[in-house]
Amino acid sequence: MRYMGMITAVAAALLVSATGAFAASAEKGRVAFGKNGCWQCHGWEGQGGAAGPTLARTKLPLEAVNAFVRNTNGPMPPFSKKILSDEDLADIYAFISAQPVPADPKTIPLLAH
Ligand code: HEC
Repeated sequence: MRYMGMITAVAAALLVSATGAFAASAEKGRVAFGKNGCWQCHGWEGQGGAAGPTLARTKLPLEAVNAFVRNTNGPMPPFSKKILSDEDLADIYAFISAQPVPADPKTIPLLAH
């Protein structure tokens, strides 16, 4: 139960960070995303690429992202806590969750015809 309380507290802190009060967290997340090579498959903005799906604006809760990143045994290599700390992963989560929505292509004059 105490564990659940902690998760709720972390989730609440991330909600606040996603709205900008602790913007440093998403900033640190961008750095950790680069340092740990997530960008190689998911793109620098988490937009997705040939090797990995879009992570930007993920709808997954932090617990699900955490469980996946630690335990995946599919095409993505797992990242243990020794390689990627919980703090860095929480920062990465703040970063990908807070990514802005891309512009609607219809509003970009060069793409209109
Ligand atoms: C070698 C390429 C590669 C790297 C590096 C990589 N990923 Fe992935 N990632 C993938 C692939 C491929 C999937 C889809 C795998 C699947 O569904 O089993 C995935 C899926 C995910 C998902 C689940 C997305 C969803 O919506 O289901 C998350 C979260 C994720 N990656 C986070 C990360 C983070 C954070 C890092 C860096 C610490 C990272 N990945 C590094 C290839 C990669």
